Amino acid sequence: MRVAVVRETREHETRVALTPELVGRLTGLGWEVAVEPGAGERALRPDEEYAAAGAVLDPGLAHDLSGADLVLSVQPLARERVRRLRRGATTVSFLPATQEPALVADLRDVGATSFAMELVPRISRAQSMDALSSQSLVAGYRCAVVCAGLLRRFLPLNMTAAGTVPPAEVMVLGAGVAGLQAIATTRRLGAVVRAYDVRAAAAEEIRSVGAHAIELELPTLEGAGGYAREMSQERAERQRELLTPYVAAADALITTAAVPGRAAPLLVTAAMVEQMRPGSVVVDLAADAPTGGNVEGSVPGEVVRIGGAQVWGGRNVPAQMPEPASRLYAANVTDLVALLTRDGALDPDWEDEIVASSCVTHDGEVRHEPARLVLEEPGGETA
Ligand SMILES: NC(=O)c1ccc[n+]([C@@H]2O[C@H](COP(=O)([O-])OP(=O)(O)OC[C@H]3O[C@@H](n4cnc5c(N)ncnc54)[C@H](O)[C@@H]3O)[C@@H](O)[C@H]2O)c1
Repeated sequence: MRVAVVRETREHETRVALTPELVGRLTGLGWEVAVEPGAGERALRPDEEYAAAGAVLDPGLAHDLSGADLVLSVQPLARERVRRLRRGATTVSFLPATQEPALVADLRDVGATSFAMELVPRISRAQSMDALSSQSLVAGYRCAVVCAGLLRRFLPLNMTAAGTVPPAEVMVLGAGVAGLQAIATTRRLGAVVRAYDVRAAAAEEIRSVGAHAIELELPTLEGAGGYAREMSQERAERQRELLTPYVAAADALITTAAVPGRAAPLLVTAAMVEQMRPGSVVVDLAADAPTGGNVEGSVPGEVVRIGGAQVWGGRNVPAQMPEPASRLYAANVTDLVALLTRDGALDPDWEDEIVASSCVTHDGEVRHEPARLVLEEPGGETA
């Protein structure tokens, strides 16, 4: 068995799929681990650490993965790399299957078995493989420190001989994994934090990390599996209206709201941001979502001014802390690989819920139904 760890090629990707401390988990199975030189460089993991951990550095991986049985990456492989995979090779990466149908078709046609980390079900047994959560944790923390850095004022209360400086008021919208981490981090820095989420269970979680839960006179929106449901247009407008005074009163706003498989909801209009005081800060984690973020006018990777506020748009936020993000991702990936392994060889149990849910292509077929439906649409193969 030969495992290849590639250097990521997508723009702004700085993470690496396997970190040196986890090489031994795979070599311990009798597998060879080949690492493309420079794969860990941007995550501050130099080639020497991989070599010392027992990996082989192979410059040839940059243009030829045909010798690999298993390819590990963070982002999906480029199409030209996929087309040259060995028939029956396995890939493990994030793989937005419905958004990249042509890539899925290539994986199918080359006979690859591909697994998408974002499709690992959120069941207790799969917690150690949950890359969405591990990367959201990093993103939520990063949003909080970006917010603290941009805000030109204290977050904590300071009582000094020269007088009292009040604490900053931070508002967080969306209290999933990232939002709760943003709340916990801004609380640790001493801010007064208020947060809102459409799920009923979120209020208790918000309070448990030391923030005030904003309760609006609106029905909650619980969907399947403990996730949020999409808002109707009417409800979205009413929610924005009810949140306007809270946004106007905040020194900083952090938005982290998402609904799986749907566009990120527009929670805050530019007009709402314009009501914030000069010097306010808005951090929109969702800014790089395909159809726009939670805040109207936010731009991924940039700080723009709306009224007197600075608005920071997230762009691949976990990759902004590549060392810990890679460490956590690598742990998720190696745990999934362990699940796919029997008697030292890749031999997935297709009856296993985690295996079945996270597989996108296998044996010349698209197994992930939503991706198959996209491919069956007219023009789906080339989209
Ligand atoms: N292994 C597990 O069991 C496991 C692991 C991780 C998360 N979860 C749960 O899954 C749920 C979602 O977590 P996530 O971080 O993936 O969420 P997510 O990234 O899908 O969304 C972030 C948050 O945005 C909220 N949201 C959506 N629309 C909103 C709106 N219009 N206004 C305000 N907030 C809105 C969602 O309710 C969610 O809390 C949570 O209940 C979390 O505890 C379970």
